[in-house]
Amino acid sequence: MISIIGAGKVGSASAFNILRFRVSDVVLIDINKDVVKGEALDMMQAAPAIEFDGKVKGTNDFSEMEGSEVVVIVAGAGRKPGMTRFDLINANSKIVKSIVKEVVRYAPECKLMVVTNPVDIMTYVAYKESGFKRNRVFGMGNILDTMRFRSYIATELNVSREDIRALVIGEHGDSMVPLVDYATVSGIPIKDLLEKKQIEKIVSLTRTSGADVIRLKGATTYAPTVVIAIMVDAVLRGRNRVMSVSTFLQGEYGFSDISIGVPVILGKNGVERILELKLSPEAKKQLKKSVSIIKDMINKLENNPLIEEFPSKDCMREE
Ligand code: 2OP
Repeated sequence: MISIIGAGKVGSASAFNILRFRVSDVVLIDINKDVVKGEALDMMQAAPAIEFDGKVKGTNDFSEMEGSEVVVIVAGAGRKPGMTRFDLINANSKIVKSIVKEVVRYAPECKLMVVTNPVDIMTYVAYKESGFKRNRVFGMGNILDTMRFRSYIATELNVSREDIRALVIGEHGDSMVPLVDYATVSGIPIKDLLEKKQIEKIVSLTRTSGADVIRLKGATTYAPTVVIAIMVDAVLRGRNRVMSVSTFLQGEYGFSDISIGVPVILGKNGVERILELKLSPEAKKQLKKSVSIIKDMINKLENNPLIEEFPSKDCMREE
């Protein structure tokens, strides 16, 4: 069983994907009791048509997360058009901290997956607040960027998306690092198939992809919620999938005391192992920039006295 905290668009659609991919039963928790119950009811009514047997419970009672193998934190203010992920930092830290307290109380053995933006900072906040070992606290960001990278490579080459393998590391934000050297089409490096200009276009589209959708429709839903289901599946079924997630570094890639996206093996224990890749000088430079942007935000956050205040319960909702 898993729990999702926050029954806005992303939380609810993630719950539905987890059910229809037959990954797990879901407890969906939100402070808005009626909305969360309605979401669960709506999902169960779809079950006969697409034949899943999983159960979903909608509740405002945090104790219902007891026994969850994975808890996914989605709640928080959403990123609005024109806003950067960093604009959300103070409000969402308070929300994440208060939810983590509940997680520690009711699901102390769980793997804690953070989705709330800015995700690298929120993963850091959740790691520090939980006191869990670092393998059990990770964030969803770069795997979504990777899906977008793969999708733009496939479009440019007019080949199946299924055959593209790639990685994006670094911040889940403007300074992300799409690893061109590790991007292949069925093992063929994209550098052998595309011109430099085409690759630059793909990298640029990947970096702005989330913001592009937000500018057009106000939020992203389909891509992040499928990715959440894939990550939950990797953990629950112990699949040891190789993907980039935000994780706390202790010297890997030369950095410490920061949560940032790097490739890992994701399995039963969460982050089973961090994979340290050999990076090109350009990728190293970009990763360093990403690290300094995140560190700067963490420092601002830690020096903000307001952040210790317990949030009012009514801000605990993904919009
Ligand atoms: C995304 O990239 C908003 O972080 C979210 O879709």
